[in-house]
Amino acid sequence: MTNTLNALHTQAWQHLNDAVLQPTHALHYLALSSIDPQGKPQARLLVLRAADTQTASLEFHTDIRSTKWTELQTNPQLSLLGYDPEHRIQLRFNGTATLFGPETAYTQQAWQQLSVWTRHSYCGGPPGYELSAPETAEMTAPPDAATTAVGKQVFGVIQFKADTLDWFHHPRGALRRALFRYGPAGSVQSANWIRP
Ligand SMILES: Cc1cc2nc3c(=O)[nH]c(=O)nc-3n(C[C@H](O)[C@H](O)[C@H](O)COP(=O)(O)O)c2cc1C
Repeated sequence: MTNTLNALHTQAWQHLNDAVLQPTHALHYLALSSIDPQGKPQARLLVLRAADTQTASLEFHTDIRSTKWTELQTNPQLSLLGYDPEHRIQLRFNGTATLFGPETAYTQQAWQQLSVWTRHSYCGGPPGYELSAPETAEMTAPPDAATTAVGKQVFGVIQFKADTLDWFHHPRGALRRALFRYGPAGSVQSANWIRP
């Protein structure tokens, strides 16, 4: 465990970078909370697709027909939460989402990187659409490049830019907590220990 604020910040982002590439890493899935039109918080897990410590940004993929996409279009403020049990560290980010729809070159480039299996999850009816059975024939059919190409039309990228990171270490001994604030370009503007 590192002691300086700078070192633990670097370490936190290193864990996020590791998590992008390791599906078994606890931070590979982060809880993304947005605000719905009634002002109620809505949390759900998303796969962490990219992490950039230079700009304090994280990236996620989703279906643009999903509720979260509509919520973020209306209110781009969101909170992200993850817990790394190996290091006993909670990461809680607040910040803003920028949405890249299917028409953008950025999203089209991301689509090219997806496996056929992942593309398959963007095919068929919209998320939340009521089904008469848990699976439809089209959901269980083995995907191929031709049939999954249609998913590109509803594939979107959520780019998250952090304003703050609330870092919380929960060991068996003394608890520790630190707050990092980021500037508009993503550099750390302030770092402070705070009472857990
Ligand atoms: C382990 C796990 C990973 C998930 N990853 C994603 C993801 O990367 N993108 C996504 O849109 N939904 C993902 N989901 C589904 C979301 O959690 C959510 O249920 C779904 O997107 C509908 O959310 P919404 O109706 O609030 O938009 C994942 C669910 C689980 C359990």
